[in-house]
Parts: sequence; C-alpha cells; structure tokens
Amino acid sequence: MTKPQKPFRIFATCDIGREALDLLRKRGYQLEVYGQLEPPPKSLILEKVRSGIDGLITTLRDPIDAEVFEAGKGTLKVVAQDAVGFDNINREDANRYNIPFANTAEVLTEATAEFALLILGAAARKLYPSERLVRENRWGAWHPYLPFLGDEVTGKTIAVIGLGRIGQAFMKKAIGFDVNFLCHDASFVRSDFLEKAQDEMDLRHHYGFSEESRTIRVVSLEEALGGADFVSLHVPLVREGESSTFHLINDQTLRLMKPTAYLVNTSRGPVVDEAALARALKEGVIAGAALDVFEQEPLPADSPLRDPELADRLRIFHHFASAGRITRLSIDPNRGMAGRTVQALIDVLENEGNLADIPYVVNKEAFR
Ligand code: GLV
Repeated sequence: MTKPQKPFRIFATCDIGREALDLLRKRGYQLEVYGQLEPPPKSLILEKVRSGIDGLITTLRDPIDAEVFEAGKGTLKVVAQDAVGFDNINREDANRYNIPFANTAEVLTEATAEFALLILGAAARKLYPSERLVRENRWGAWHPYLPFLGDEVTGKTIAVIGLGRIGQAFMKKAIGFDVNFLCHDASFVRSDFLEKAQDEMDLRHHYGFSEESRTIRVVSLEEALGGADFVSLHVPLVREGESSTFHLINDQTLRLMKPTAYLVNTSRGPVVDEAALARALKEGVIAGAALDVFEQEPLPADSPLRDPELADRLRIFHHFASAGRITRLSIDPNRGMAGRTVQALIDVLENEGNLADIPYVVNKEAFR
C-alpha cells in the first residue's frame, strides 16, 4: 500500500471524546466529526468514504459492510471502532477489500464485568422496586418480609456463559461473593485461568473468608442454565453458523432455567430473544432479568420488555456497561476506549511495517 502524504483525512461518525480527537488534530490530521447524538445515515458514511478519507472512526451503531469498503476502494485505510464488539463490521468484507479494522478490547473489560455484577445484584436485591417505594411515599411500615423480599447473591451458583476477557473478569469479581460457578463456552481455549480462580476460591476457604468450599465446573449450556441461580452472558454476537449465539436464550433455553433464577445480559441484545424473555418473566418461568443491551437500540416504544407488569423483575439500562468516565474517555490507550480508538488509527496510518503486527487490529488474518 503506498502511503499518502499527510494530512490524513478522517471522518468520525460520532464525537468519541474531544481530548482524544484533539490528539489527531495535534498531529495535523484533518478531522470531521458528525455532531449529532444519533448515528449518521449510511448514505452520509458512504459519501464521506467516497470523498477519499483515509480513516473512519465508527461506533457499534454504524453498519460497515461491502458497500462502505467498495466506496473506499483504494483510499480508505482503516476503520477504528470505538467498542470491543464489532458485529456491525463485516469481517469477511473487510478482508476481501484488505482494510484493517480495530476495536477497543481490554480497556472496557473491567468496567463491563463490574457492571454485569452490579446489575445482577440490583435485580436480585430489588433495588429499583425498593427505591420506587420510598420515592413514591408508599413505604408504610418496616416489616420483616413485606412488601417484598430480594434474593441474596452470596453463596449462590452463577452460570458464566462465555469465558473471554469479560467473562473471566466477571468471575474474578464475583469470587468475593463466595459463589459456585458453572462455566460454558463453546469455543473455550483452555488456559490456566480456571485453575487459578479455583486456587483463589480455595484460599478464601482456607483462610475462613468463605465458610464453604466453592467450585468451578465447566459444563454444557444445558447444565449451566439448569443449575444456576444467576446466568450472566458474555458471548460475542455471531448471527450464523456453528458458533451462532443469535437467540441463544430463547423459549426453550429459558425453560431450562430455575423459576428462581435471574438472567443478566451485558453482551449483545440479539443473544436473547426478547419476546421469549418477556413471556418467561410474565409467566414466572424465571424470576428476573437485568439487560444492558437490546435486539434494537434504543429500545423501541412498543417493546414487550416495557410491559409495566415486568417492572418489578426486569431491570433495563441504556447500553451503559462500559460507560465509566475513564473507560470511555481516557486518552491513555491502555485505559480508555477513546484513547485506544485514536491510537489504533495512528498505528495503522503511520505504520511502516506489517498490519498484522499492530496490536489493536482485529482482522490480522487478512495481512499475514
Ligand atoms: C460495547 O458494547 C462494546 O462493544 O464496546
């Protein structure tokens, strides 16, 4: 690839953070940032790419496919996505057009894992119904079990579905609640993580921090769902093929869960069949759920998940898990998504070597 003369031209489909974007401006890049809250229409992305930009900064809201890569043929050199998930970017198309794309893996692992655990607790301990009771001045009297009780997390069994970075970070945090784990990951590459986590749990028991000894077991999806008090999803969205996770949680799989169990989803919305989940919550198939992601975002006004009958057992958030101040905005590529997105762009555009050696490039296979 022959390198163009600077200044590089960049279009950002979203303001990912002024300080990080200023790093590009300071390097002499010409930067255009789409200034609306909503994502730009695809026609505008195509127009910008066709105009010969060198780099495109995207978010998970932008469909990046063959049409975009075709529009950038010969000019577009990198797509830098401000997210770890990249199901909106067609990897095969990127590879066909030899265009590298980057994501923000690692920097949002802790924030997302922490959020999953926190909303799991919020659902189980009924934080929202409790606060609403107080705010609406309906708290008549302190009572041992009325008007409702929550469910403890400590000592329970959590199914962790997906043992990538975020699933593992979630486990590290949940260990402090002295839980048992049922782990399932269809494409788990064995590492010593599970042994180390078990060692930590054993040590907690040894020192008396945990009264009972707790275990980690790697099991089938069915066994994980059937044996857990909480199910936390940490899989990528794969829409087709053998490793598809589309509607992994559906009418059938929800029925494998205990009627007292809770579902937590901080991965991608389409992993859960929302209509099936709404039915399951209504019919008491499971006890509750906490969702940060949805099949369609923002959540449509007519979503069955908005049914007021579900409000006491379903917590819903605005795709907020990675939205910690540092995680979203830090310009340090080892801490913040904005910093990492910008660094990925610089690494690719100013790269002298092989694109496969650039750490944040996802589709390295296209350049080996
Ligand atoms: C958020 O969902 C992300 O993929 O970064």
